[in-house]
Amino acid sequence: MDPKENIILALDVEHFDDARRLVMEFRDYVGMFKVGKQLFTHCGPKIIDFINMKNSKVFLDLKYHDIPNTVSKAVIEAAKLGVDMLNIHASGGLTMMKESRLALANITKKLQIPRPKIIGVTVLTSIDDGELKAMGISITVKELTKNLALLAKDAGLDGVVAGGEDIEMIREICGKDFVIVTPGVRIGDKKDDQKRTITPKEAIEKGASYIVLGRTLLENHQPFILLEGIYKDILDALSHRQN
Ligand code: C5P
Repeated sequence: MDPKENIILALDVEHFDDARRLVMEFRDYVGMFKVGKQLFTHCGPKIIDFINMKNSKVFLDLKYHDIPNTVSKAVIEAAKLGVDMLNIHASGGLTMMKESRLALANITKKLQIPRPKIIGVTVLTSIDDGELKAMGISITVKELTKNLALLAKDAGLDGVVAGGEDIEMIREICGKDFVIVTPGVRIGDKKDDQKRTITPKEAIEKGASYIVLGRTLLENHQPFILLEGIYKDILDALSHRQN
């Protein structure tokens, strides 16, 4: 049980050099690096090559959302880059998710490369019931999350991205092997633009497979001291979970 394996560090920076520095600094301290839209749009696949070269894992967080044919093709290209995990929006629909999952299985079999985990984004942690209502969606974040998680499971996805307060529900309805990645992780009162936040300890206790640390770690003046505390919390939470 190595608590660092439960931690994904979000490389939310613009430049390759900054991302490279973070990878070198944190590669022995976290289980995976998340490459998101900002970094990937700015510097492209070379950051993925770099992380792979350092034998660290990559979560490509581009949250694909388009018609089934387009997302399937994007997912194929992501697999060819050698990422360990990638995500698509579950709200893209069952057909889109099924086709993407199939495309991933086919391409990885053909090229004889490991199949990345493919997970669905349920409801962004920056969205609350008010935001849903403004979009004309009259069910709650919780109900929508539940529907989308079940749809992702039906489509054969490996898991979902979900906010803290939905972890237990998803674990219960989707089973113990379903991957749950939880962003919006905070220590203390600072929320930034996240409307729904959770501490590392609570997230793991409730059943998250991974927590995503972004600003919580990157904006801290003593990130390694903070990480020591988070490891302890994760170990504590895991021992509670197994009892
Ligand atoms: O800095 P912060 O902890 O808010 O970073 C959260 C990271 O997780 C960002 O990279 C964000 O894009 C990502 N994310 C999220 N909510 C989701 C899915 C991903 O905040 N539902």
